[in-house]
Amino acid sequence: MSVEQLPVESPREEDAERHAGVLRYYELAKRAEWHMADMPWSEIPPIPETRGSVQKRARRTDVWRSVITQQYQADILAVKMSAQLLNLAPHHEAKLYYSTMVQDESRHVEAWLKLLEEVGGTAERDPYLDELARMFLDDLDMLEEKVFLMQVFFERLIIPRFRLIARSSRGTVLEDLCNRLTIDDGIHHGAGMAYERVLLENATKRTRGRLVSAANRMLPIFVEHALWRPPARAWIGRAMHDRDVQRLREDLEDGVRLANSLGLDVSDVELPFS
Ligand SMILES: [Fe+2]
Ligand SMILES: [Fe+2]
Repeated sequence: MSVEQLPVESPREEDAERHAGVLRYYELAKRAEWHMADMPWSEIPPIPETRGSVQKRARRTDVWRSVITQQYQADILAVKMSAQLLNLAPHHEAKLYYSTMVQDESRHVEAWLKLLEEVGGTAERDPYLDELARMFLDDLDMLEEKVFLMQVFFERLIIPRFRLIARSSRGTVLEDLCNRLTIDDGIHHGAGMAYERVLLENATKRTRGRLVSAANRMLPIFVEHALWRPPARAWIGRAMHDRDVQRLREDLEDGVRLANSLGLDVSDVELPFS
């Protein structure tokens, strides 16, 4: 289905059962919705506090600032992407669902902005996230491809990153936020899986093939993004590289298994590590 030819379907014509999966995620998203005031602002420190010399503390803050900047940048992409999905999705249930995702992603950006204020502003942009943004927003022209890369892959692959950040920032606002995002992105991913199933029900072999080739274009950029370290984090990057690569390989294999469970023949997907 190309973006220009999307049909407009009225809710009454829909087969309710067919779309029940997506609707379930809409209801789940409504129940899981949270507000900025629920977060422990001013009760606990924004980021982990470091003892030591002024230089050491400044270096630590730079690390956290760059971690937060990268997630902020990712959520800006998610705001734009969810707005596109809301506009493009022809199905009533999917539009309902995406109306909640747009709100989630924009609330995520709001929270990152507040955290950035606390740590002294943004750090360097991740060029690979910019590349992913161009690909997702401008280069892909089918709804099936956008849902597939954004929700099935990207949102699934960033969840372990939130867990990792939460684990190294115990007792901070940053940890609280990452725990919320783990839940939210779990819902975003689950909804994407459910909707992709609906979209692929009558998909042609050619459409399925396009999804696999889009995944092949995206995965190497995602790897660069996941392993990218700005100067502030370069020293950590070197020390953690092997573990990062191992973890990333497992995550990508998971992503490929999910694609397989959608009935896509992913034997042509080339994992960037193999
Ligand atoms: Fe988000
Ligand atoms: Fe998300």
